[in-house]
Amino acid sequence: MTTLPGSPWLERRGAGLWFDGCELGALAREFGTPLYVYSRRAMLAALAGYQRALAGREHLICYAMKANSSLAVLQTFARAGCGFDIVSVGELERVIAAGGDPGKTVFSGVGKTPAAMRRALQAGVRCFNVESERELEVLSGVAQSLGVTAPVSLRVNPDVDAGTHPYISTGLRGNKFGIAHERAVGVYRRAAALPGLRVEGIDCHIGSQITQVEPYLDALDRVLDLVEAVEAAGIPLHHVDLGGGLGITYTDETPPATEGFVTRLLQRIDERGHGHRTVMFEPGRSLVGNAGVLLAEVLYLKPSTGEGGRNFCIVDAAMNDLVRPAMYEAWMRIEPCHLRADTPTQDWDVVGPVCESGDWLGRDRALAVQPGDMLAVLSAGAYGMTMASNYNSRGRAAELMVDDGRASLIREREDARSLFALERLLPAG
Ligand code: LLP
Repeated sequence: MTTLPGSPWLERRGAGLWFDGCELGALAREFGTPLYVYSRRAMLAALAGYQRALAGREHLICYAMKANSSLAVLQTFARAGCGFDIVSVGELERVIAAGGDPGKTVFSGVGKTPAAMRRALQAGVRCFNVESERELEVLSGVAQSLGVTAPVSLRVNPDVDAGTHPYISTGLRGNKFGIAHERAVGVYRRAAALPGLRVEGIDCHIGSQITQVEPYLDALDRVLDLVEAVEAAGIPLHHVDLGGGLGITYTDETPPATEGFVTRLLQRIDERGHGHRTVMFEPGRSLVGNAGVLLAEVLYLKPSTGEGGRNFCIVDAAMNDLVRPAMYEAWMRIEPCHLRADTPTQDWDVVGPVCESGDWLGRDRALAVQPGDMLAVLSAGAYGMTMASNYNSRGRAAELMVDDGRASLIREREDARSLFALERLLPAG
């Protein structure tokens, strides 16, 4: 039995690939492919790293549900005591539908609409993470029209380089996110003066798939400098929200282990005399990334026809199911669900059926495969299903939750009818 990189719940037993007590090849055959499979125990184990480090202090872990917003996933985190980080009304409705607590939910995002603000105020969200001065004014007006005050924190842009992919780096001056560090005190004064607002805290989020602690410590220092300056201006701040962004192992990355990472940040908070404040985190990928795989069946093998050609392994999952390789050139590990001894290993480009050359899941992968085999794309629990689309009129995949050998279907495969259920033909004539 060998454990694979990423998740301790994923292991080779003989030729088979097992995830949280279930044999993946058997699940693929029973439920069909493409199929997302998540491990409940892997999610809870990832969460426990945050919980252990934060035990004994005022805190709130707001799962950033953009990573994976399936109701059963939200339900798992809600039952474990988590709040949520949301960026749309749709995400808020999901929290409510899954039994989550809006009172533990923070609302982030640069483009909140007045209608979204209204709904979030009615639901009673814990805090709005506000990203611009104009947004403060609009939120104040909406809150006044409802006769309430809106709890706010300002998302400040600490201008630190998170050292990650440019598309998922958010804490630099050139990014659209947050309020510039040097303007923050002035904007806090404005917030405190607006009648519909109640200043609660401060927050920052510097990027995603960050594998070092140093950018966080730099951002934290800058945020704490601001906390001191804002309080010196007579505006108390109750919580510090450090966002999400902790990376995971896809291949050979070595991100810090969660518990040690959080402990390091808490130590710095204590050293600087801010230990009494509520600490919040908004983790997404680090809670679910390595708790999910995407299963696909090999449809056809199209070996190279000569010089400069490539070997294509065509599978039934595509960029519409998992866009990270196409969009970020993300490297995600691909493992056969059943190892073969009867077929030579060759380098394959694992590609999907979508009509785009960019439709690939992995390139140059050494695999021994035959048509009909099942493959697993690992570390697909975060930003997989939530970024899936219906491109090429492909129905989205089914999803399963496994838990100590038991599998539950948590989302049915989309069929053709559901694809165009909301569309209308033009009237006759
Ligand atoms: N909080 C805020 C305000 C965020 O914008 C994000 C992610 C998170 C928390 C959660 O970050 P995490 O812990 O998951 O790194 N689609 C990209 C990732 C985009 C991340 C966007 N913001 C990918 O597939 O790599």
